[in-house]
Amino acid sequence: MAETKRDPVAEWATDFDHTHPDYAAAATEIWDDLRAGCPVAHSERFGGTWLPTRHEDIAAIAADTEHFTSQGVIVTEWRPDVPAPVGYAPPITSDPPFHALARRVLLPYFSPKAMVRWENTTRAMCRELLDTALADGATAFDAAADYAQHIPVRVIADMLGLPRDDGDKFRGFIHRIIEVPGQVEVEQEDTLDHYLKQIVADRKAKPGDDLISYLLSADLDGVPLDEGHVEGTIGLLIIAGIDTTWSAIGASLWHLAQHPEHLQRLRDDPEVIPFAVEEFLRFYAPVTMARLVAEPVQIGDASMQPGDWCLLPFPAANRDPEFFERADEFVIDRAANRHSAFGLGIHRCIGSNLARLELRIALEEFVARIPSFELADPSAVRWSTGQVRGPRLLPVRLT
Ligand code: HEM
Repeated sequence: MAETKRDPVAEWATDFDHTHPDYAAAATEIWDDLRAGCPVAHSERFGGTWLPTRHEDIAAIAADTEHFTSQGVIVTEWRPDVPAPVGYAPPITSDPPFHALARRVLLPYFSPKAMVRWENTTRAMCRELLDTALADGATAFDAAADYAQHIPVRVIADMLGLPRDDGDKFRGFIHRIIEVPGQVEVEQEDTLDHYLKQIVADRKAKPGDDLISYLLSADLDGVPLDEGHVEGTIGLLIIAGIDTTWSAIGASLWHLAQHPEHLQRLRDDPEVIPFAVEEFLRFYAPVTMARLVAEPVQIGDASMQPGDWCLLPFPAANRDPEFFERADEFVIDRAANRHSAFGLGIHRCIGSNLARLELRIALEEFVARIPSFELADPSAVRWSTGQVRGPRLLPVRLT
């Protein structure tokens, strides 16, 4: 399973590579420079890719379903061959008008009311993970690998009625599809497609009280969902629900490890937690999505042509000083916070209630159990590459 090495980047404005480790290491500085001087970068890589960096442009593109299609949302060398409006992972790869139907079918499972079911389970999971990490008097562990990553994996596994032990498989799919897209080849039986076909066939034969069974019995205006749709949506939830939340939890802990004043504020003033959660999401927004250009369109000086990719770096929008006061400052009790961590427009995140719940509980439990901690080895911290950004290795030490 060899991964291809990325060519060095000559200029971020004209040759950027969002999957390059240098981008992962310095994304915020790169966006700031581009926003001030460019502001829509272009690269010939991946067959032609654009990178807008201003909030205004990102919001306009996210709202424009006429010139841009969601048929592809992860930038690769090739163009996806499952046509819109359905796409290979509905609803994220669907366009209007089908998108609204595919989205509506999922909404009841992710409503604020539906979240009650996950509150206690998530809290119990966090406690169990901390018990394990701190067993036998341990005073150091990896807050990303031993804690953050397991929380969303277990929640999604429970929600889909899949074994929590499949977590390693989920992480393998996410790594190949999001972190190094198209750069790793595997046998057919190790692909996400193969896994999805298997679990959907199993559940069809033996339904239960879970989201896969619900989708298999659901309909779109009276028409049952076909198996391809169910497989695509389950694949989407595995990919969209895991490394996103794991990144948000990890980045928040990375911040707290280096800002004892903010850690103390969370300990002393639990009422600040909901504001802190929103500020963590703004400041460390993990997700950049993409669109394919469907019709020629002009964004500022950029002439985008059909077939070009256009990234939507929501994290860059969140740092735009034209949109946020003190955009480059982490303000733990920021009152007005219209961040776009969960996207903008019709594809806005369906899992935002669940993500907020997981992030809040993960932080509450961590801070209650470990009132004081720091990075054990700052040079050992590793951030993911690609369109979802967060720490993958985060060694911490109790202080
Ligand atoms: C902190 C965690 C998360 C972040 C930052 C995040 C971010 C996003 C973003 C930016 C989009 C918009 C995509 C686009 O415009 O193409 C999105 C869509 C979506 N997310 Fe999340 N997400 C998170 C967690 C979750 C979770 C936990 C789930 C479900 C288990 C989930 C399910 C979805 C789905 C199904 C969509 C597609 C919605 C549509 O196309 O209408 N996400 N997410």
